[in-house]
Amino acid sequence: IALDIKNEQGTESVELLYKSHEIRDGKYALKGLPAVWASDDEAQTLEIVLGDDIAGVEVHLLYGVLEACDVITRSVLIKNTGSGDITIEKAHAACLDMVYGDYDVIRFYGKHAMERNLERTHLGHGTLSFGSRRGTSSHQYNPAVILAQRDTTENAGDCYGMLFVYSGNFSCEAEKDQINQTRLLMGLSDELFSYPLAAGETFTVPEVIMSYSADGFSQLSHQYHTCISEHVCRSRFAHEVRPVLINSWEAAYFDFTGDTIVDLAKEAASLGIDMVVMDDGWFGKRDDDNSSLGDWFVNEKKLGGTLSELIDRVHAQGVKFGIWIEPEMVNEDSNLYREHPDWAIQIPGKLPVRSRNQLLLDFSRKEVRDNIFDQICAVFDQGKIDYVKWDMNRSMADVYAGNLAYDYVLGVYDFMERLVTRYPDILLEGCSGGGGRFDAGMLYYSPQIWCSDNTDAINRTRIQYGTSFFYPVSSMGAHVSAVPNHQTGRVTDMNTRGVVAMTGAFGYELDLGKLSEEDKTAVREQIKTYHEAAPVILKGDYYRLSNPFEAEYGAWMSVDEEKKHAVVGAVLLNTHGNHPVFYIRLRGLAPERSYRDKKTGTVYSGAALMELGMPFTVVSGNYPSYQILLDAVE
Ligand code: GLA
Repeated sequence: IALDIKNEQGTESVELLYKSHEIRDGKYALKGLPAVWASDDEAQTLEIVLGDDIAGVEVHLLYGVLEACDVITRSVLIKNTGSGDITIEKAHAACLDMVYGDYDVIRFYGKHAMERNLERTHLGHGTLSFGSRRGTSSHQYNPAVILAQRDTTENAGDCYGMLFVYSGNFSCEAEKDQINQTRLLMGLSDELFSYPLAAGETFTVPEVIMSYSADGFSQLSHQYHTCISEHVCRSRFAHEVRPVLINSWEAAYFDFTGDTIVDLAKEAASLGIDMVVMDDGWFGKRDDDNSSLGDWFVNEKKLGGTLSELIDRVHAQGVKFGIWIEPEMVNEDSNLYREHPDWAIQIPGKLPVRSRNQLLLDFSRKEVRDNIFDQICAVFDQGKIDYVKWDMNRSMADVYAGNLAYDYVLGVYDFMERLVTRYPDILLEGCSGGGGRFDAGMLYYSPQIWCSDNTDAINRTRIQYGTSFFYPVSSMGAHVSAVPNHQTGRVTDMNTRGVVAMTGAFGYELDLGKLSEEDKTAVREQIKTYHEAAPVILKGDYYRLSNPFEAEYGAWMSVDEEKKHAVVGAVLLNTHGNHPVFYIRLRGLAPERSYRDKKTGTVYSGAALMELGMPFTVVSGNYPSYQILLDAVE
């Protein structure tokens, strides 16, 4: 069921009957929640009012129709119109019923450092369900689903998508019933949820973005990519090529001083990198992950001066400056916790569950948010900060009340809203133990999200593949890191790491000072290529050319709107003796046009590249990669 409401007597019954409806120009907005936005001539809203006068409940079904994007959004307002209290036990945002058809369900499961693996399973009789009870949208399942006809491929066939614009607990259910009809539901999880609503109050269910393609998954993805970049992301950076950054985390972890950051900036400047980001470890007395979360004051001893001096030193190198924060957290070893132990989420009388030695602050409480907000602003006001990485490194536990999980997420959104309003010129990147909160809700505030703590180029072909079904390339933070890779121990060459990371908001995450001269030359080359290719990669239509869970190679490409420029990326994932030349069929080009490979000068016919494929010669080495920039020949 999509909705379950309990009245004061404990009866769970609502019979919703039609009351009225209205169609108006523009897209509805949701109070306190992220939602698709559009101008009055880009969208229409349909509002259907249903009611049960005996139960004292009114439900407003909100539909936002964005015709050009081919999406319909759906949200629900639940009003207590009676005189007693009611409790919402379950509230989905959307429900689709298919009266015929045999379907596969595609979902994106994962874990820390291996997010959004695609899994496609046939939906038999019964219910298939997945979701999150971790307080965030989670590493374990992304709040996204595709229902596809069994023969649907990238290029052909019916498929329906649902994407939840929400960063907390969710639930997705697909059911095939006894008469072979299929129902797809997406909305708030009913686990650890029981929301009291007093007389006169309204509850808002976050929205789902629905879309349909008759031409396979690529088309469905394009619709979602356009909707997210044009109608979800609000940041002024959403349509810009983002600065290439170097992040201090895998370069130094907690072990740095102000000089380390300035050295990174110097190296960055000499290589053409635009920005240095000081990650975790700059505040309180934090030299490991046991202390100081909640104490957002600069560790001037560690930095060898004030933050504003450090920012000036970095800027003096001609490099921008970014900083890491994790506002939702507190360590027990912190001044904040010593002063306000009751601000951490816990069940009275019980020891709270620790994860990464930290507790979650109760962001459902305004005084808690206000304290952290003031502390963070006092830091940001010390100099020109160009970028902020907002992290969130544990799940929610100790859920002490049925309204907590939802009110917590609304608290986070309230904080983010205040932050982006006060600092519109800061580029914000989301993060949660890598990609544990990679969702459309977060993209409303931050135009990019760190895709995964796993920077291994080979694993990344899968992570970024799964992520690309709903989220645009421009939203995926992707960095070149050191080898052997810190998460997998694998060695890949600089070229392969670059080709994979360039299919995202690009950067580096290693000690630049330790790079060989050869690698430094490669980095300079990569940055040149990125500046050339980024507008096509980030704004063009993205095509998955292989499924890296099955194919010998991972391959993808982007084509600009006029089909004049394309960038192809490929990595050989599995090599063997006597490997023949392999062909990858390109997509999205103009068949009647010819395209020149910018590097080799070879000219190919668009039709041939799409029918026969682009030939790739296997060069020896581990995981060789290919990057081809194509220009239409006038
Ligand atoms: C998380 C992030 C990393 C890094 C660390 C710092 O794991 O995903 O990128 O910022 O926290 O503690």
